[in-house]
Amino acid sequence: MAIRKIRIDEDPVLRKKAREIRNVDDSIKKLIDDMIETMYDAPGVGLAAPQVGISKRLVIVDVGDGQGLQVFINPRIVKTEGPIEEGCEGCLSVPGIYGDVKRAFKVTVKALNRKGKGITLEATGFRARAIQHEIDHLEGILFIDIATNLHKMDNKEKDEPPEDLFQDNLNSLIEDIKQKRFKHLESTDTVKS
Ligand code: NI
Repeated sequence: MAIRKIRIDEDPVLRKKAREIRNVDDSIKKLIDDMIETMYDAPGVGLAAPQVGISKRLVIVDVGDGQGLQVFINPRIVKTEGPIEEGCEGCLSVPGIYGDVKRAFKVTVKALNRKGKGITLEATGFRARAIQHEIDHLEGILFIDIATNLHKMDNKEKDEPPEDLFQDNLNSLIEDIKQKRFKHLESTDTVKS
């Protein structure tokens, strides 16, 4: 395993439509392992192959919700359900920038797993958001293209390593998104009753 360089900002690979993976061979398995190590090292909650300079249809997600890591090869969202919800997003390829993006609350995804076997998975909430964000990367779409309220999250002590701060920010963002979801569910319940 090796940590790969994360491509940022204007790197053209981030804007290309990624290619289907025809064969889940050893080079793809190596790429998956490297992406996993790179994502956890960053740290991030998802990573798409173009973000490490490989224009292929492969994404990984682990949002720390206890469901663990998921690998999606040639993923396709075949169904979206539930309300469209707005939530705050950031991206390892657009460092320091955050914004609000509208996403479906629930998605059904068809893909191949790392053994090349066809899988169908459902995801909700923040995991569904992360999957939609990562699949956008395969189309050359960055969250800043579709976000509102884009803003910088400043790291005031620029000389200090930002890792802890980033993790705190990430945790509070996740918390914020969860609370918004609960609020939404409560208000839905109220309407129903
Ligand atoms: Ni991203």
